[in-house]
Amino acid sequence: MAKSFSEMEDSNRSANLSIHEVSDPARRVWLRGGLAAATGSLFGPAVLTACAATPSANSAAPALGRSIGFKGVAMAATDTVVVPEGYRAQVLYRWGDPVGVAGQMPAFKPDASNTAAEQALQAGMHHDGMAFFPLDGGARRGVLAMNHEYVDDGLLHPDGVKTWSAEKAYKSMAAHGVSVIEVEKTQTGWQTVTPSRYARRITARTPMRIAGPAAGHAMMKTAADPAGTQVLGTFNNCANGQTPWGTYLTCEENWAGYFEGPEQPDAHQKRWGLRKGSGSYFRWHEADERFDATRHPNEFNRFGWVVEIDPMDPTSVPVKRTALGRAAHEGAATALTRSGKAVVYMGEDARFEYIYKFVSRDAMKPGGLAANRELLDHGTLYVARFDAGGRGVWLPMVHGQGPLTAAAGFADQGEVLIKSRQAADALGATKMDRPEWTTVDMATGQVYCTLTNNTDRGKPDRPGPDAANPRAPNTMGQIIRWKEDGDLDGTAFSWDHLVLAGDPAQEREGARGNIRGDYFGSPDGLWVDPRGVLWIQTDASSSVMGQGEYSRLPNNQMLACDPTDPKGQIRRFLLGPTGCEVTGIAMASDLRTMFVNIQHPGESPSERSDPAQPSRYSKWPDGGRPRSATVVITKLDGGVIGT
Ligand code: FEO
Ligand code: CA
Ligand code: CA
Repeated sequence: MAKSFSEMEDSNRSANLSIHEVSDPARRVWLRGGLAAATGSLFGPAVLTACAATPSANSAAPALGRSIGFKGVAMAATDTVVVPEGYRAQVLYRWGDPVGVAGQMPAFKPDASNTAAEQALQAGMHHDGMAFFPLDGGARRGVLAMNHEYVDDGLLHPDGVKTWSAEKAYKSMAAHGVSVIEVEKTQTGWQTVTPSRYARRITARTPMRIAGPAAGHAMMKTAADPAGTQVLGTFNNCANGQTPWGTYLTCEENWAGYFEGPEQPDAHQKRWGLRKGSGSYFRWHEADERFDATRHPNEFNRFGWVVEIDPMDPTSVPVKRTALGRAAHEGAATALTRSGKAVVYMGEDARFEYIYKFVSRDAMKPGGLAANRELLDHGTLYVARFDAGGRGVWLPMVHGQGPLTAAAGFADQGEVLIKSRQAADALGATKMDRPEWTTVDMATGQVYCTLTNNTDRGKPDRPGPDAANPRAPNTMGQIIRWKEDGDLDGTAFSWDHLVLAGDPAQEREGARGNIRGDYFGSPDGLWVDPRGVLWIQTDASSSVMGQGEYSRLPNNQMLACDPTDPKGQIRRFLLGPTGCEVTGIAMASDLRTMFVNIQHPGESPSERSDPAQPSRYSKWPDGGRPRSATVVITKLDGGVIGT
């Protein structure tokens, strides 16, 4: 997440418990004692038992278990992708590469002079969450769907933001959204197939349908869409999900920063970060008045959703699934209960926001997408409360139940969902340290979530530490995990911390981690691969990297561990180039190819690159203007990644 968004993303002033009321003395002692007083296990005392959930994700795993065999990579400040000995990393799909629409494949111009129309046919900027959809078994061919989270206007245009125009705003909109590409393993390595019948760009202007309880709601209606059921585009797509019925879920995160707000925002606008000046970074409202919330206040309510995309049909209309709630959505990790209900775990990455879970009303039917088009439109949304003592509950966000009444400002279920933050405030959910990715280990039923950091925790007017978010200020972040009582649709759970991030030798107690193995800070991307290895990707801001508590962490990275091994170590697998964040991960079906995204190489501490010196901080990957890109990682002996 860019620093510029951070001014508007800390908006939770609700009075629900988060402070010392729920802090857990036992856990505090454990934390203070550091490693010596810990339970003797990096991974804490959780008992891992077989889960009732469908073991679909793990069933295809080779008989290698969770073993990790690579030699860890040493931390270094290098402007390249570093992988362990015996591995190779190749650049596959860079910002500006043609997505592969037949007859419309404009080449990337290194001076960034491609037009907005050309950009809409090329890879967007700032690659993020990603999923692999197999073709022909998926070992050598597949479709990759990936997010393009946001843009650096300093790099996107030849003269940066020295001047501004509608064309620049539309080029920025075209560089946002999603890419769907076909990829294939050839004699020389993996390549993007161009042209491809699957190739597609989805941008901030692609027509989409709104579905679920908030579709057609009065708060969703605009002059351009009086029915409140159609919207143009998706943007700030951060992490993602992949459904068992073959669709891609893309999540709208810091969308509030694209709308210009009024001088005096109302309570709803304020709770979601809208204010005068909030649109001044991307300046879209200067070209398209729908981004001016002083003129079209409801357009703002049409963002903040999880969008479902059919990656196999480039003519399909993406659908915003409002039943999953509105948030600064990070990701949408999807799994099935034993009875086939879809469960979607979602973090909201903003300081003091929440962790959500959706459980579908119906079970998935055989027949793929065609049989499950409305599965995510009906169900129950919950928000998490992490209690002291390692227990927690899922609070149902159902209109008419508890405080979610018309008298309290929630006229119907649509309004509960549009005002998810206010509803979660009223329910007394736990204010977390910026929940990022979630992932489900189907073999154990453990669900993991990265809490990347929260430098505001403990400030005089902000919540202090609690059991789940025990450090203040929290500069390093932690990985929390929980296990539902019963199946994944259970409404109570047990939780603990997998790990507190940070250098174990760090002087300040609040920044000292309890990591065994290679250390890291600001965990963000998180994925349990099909054989059960947990991959951790980091996103420490370029404004802190290499300095202070991050002085020994000059670059972002990716690490791996076996989360079920009580003596296991976390091992560094990949180092990203200068100024990048490492985010987005997927594997081919035989687990012998890994795809990883490198976002914003060369991000300057001011976040906007100097167009006069576009490669001042990084020249990755081509030696010139830095370009976000998808990287393919293979083992030289052709083996399974990570072994
Ligand atoms: Fe887009 Fe929360 O990272
Ligand atoms: Ca992040
Ligand atoms: Ca992220």
